[in-house]
Amino acid sequence: MTTRNTKQAWLDAWLQAKPIDLNACKCGGRAYRFVLLGAPGVGKGTVAQMMAERLGLAHLATGDIFRAAKSLPAASLSPALQEAIGYMQRGELVPDQTVIDLVRERRACLHWPAGFVLDGFPRTVPQAEAFEQLMRAENLALDGVLNFELPIETIVARLGGRRTCSKCKAVYHVVNMPPKVDGICDNCGGPLIIREDDRPDAIRVRMDVYQKSTAPLIEYYRSRNMLITISAEGTPDDVFARTCKTAGIRCGGNPC
Ligand code: AP5
Repeated sequence: MTTRNTKQAWLDAWLQAKPIDLNACKCGGRAYRFVLLGAPGVGKGTVAQMMAERLGLAHLATGDIFRAAKSLPAASLSPALQEAIGYMQRGELVPDQTVIDLVRERRACLHWPAGFVLDGFPRTVPQAEAFEQLMRAENLALDGVLNFELPIETIVARLGGRRTCSKCKAVYHVVNMPPKVDGICDNCGGPLIIREDDRPDAIRVRMDVYQKSTAPLIEYYRSRNMLITISAEGTPDDVFARTCKTAGIRCGGNPC
């Protein structure tokens, strides 16, 4: 199973609110449960995708749910999810209660035996508090919160070159991770598009929202001794290797 198929499979599971039989755990039976933090474009989705593929973790990305909801018929969406799409397109955060309800409905995915990587949730302190309660109720514990850091110029370059498959949602970069054929997804042959919230005006809103609403989470998790800060510089393989080393992740008993 390729990385990109893994992403699609987990998106389907997340949308349908049920766990799936994907890969057997690849980490010798040890479950890892992480939350990813970092500004838009730092590369969270890319490293989460690699953790799903290489470690067998469930990749649960709230942004992917809202983007996928956009392509479903409006009549099949709850009023809250229809409203959420408008927030996402403007680069604003979806209201906390909508996101918290959505994650709670899908809590079965948190029990995947190999563990999970949460990419995009929690995004505010109220979401973090609700998630803490949910984890306690489900009798699960986080291994840590991985906070990725990168200079703003590099972030802007990463976002400016991002292309996403309109069908299977695989992520590329025109320079750093180009597809084999320009504009076409390697995985499913679908057309590659620029995400609506990667327009310069929406990027500005997302950066401001990150500073105001998400950056306070760094203090929240630091005060609980859960924060693990990691540089997101270098190639995706560099970032993945650094993540495993810094977070103490061992594959099948060996360091990754
Ligand atoms: P979401 O999808 O979570 O977007 P985001 O946090 O803005 O993050 P991005 O997906 O833009 O960036 P990324 O860090 O994953 O970067 P990527 O790996 O793609 O959320 C979207 C929206 O949904 C929000 O704005 C909000 O409206 C709503 N939402 C979602 N969750 C919510 C919540 N909990 N509460 C409220 N609202 C919520 O990488 C970027 C580019 O760089 C790619 O082209 C990639 O190929 C390239 N790249 C990645 N890594 C490297 C590398 N190491 N070297 C070179 N290039 C790289």
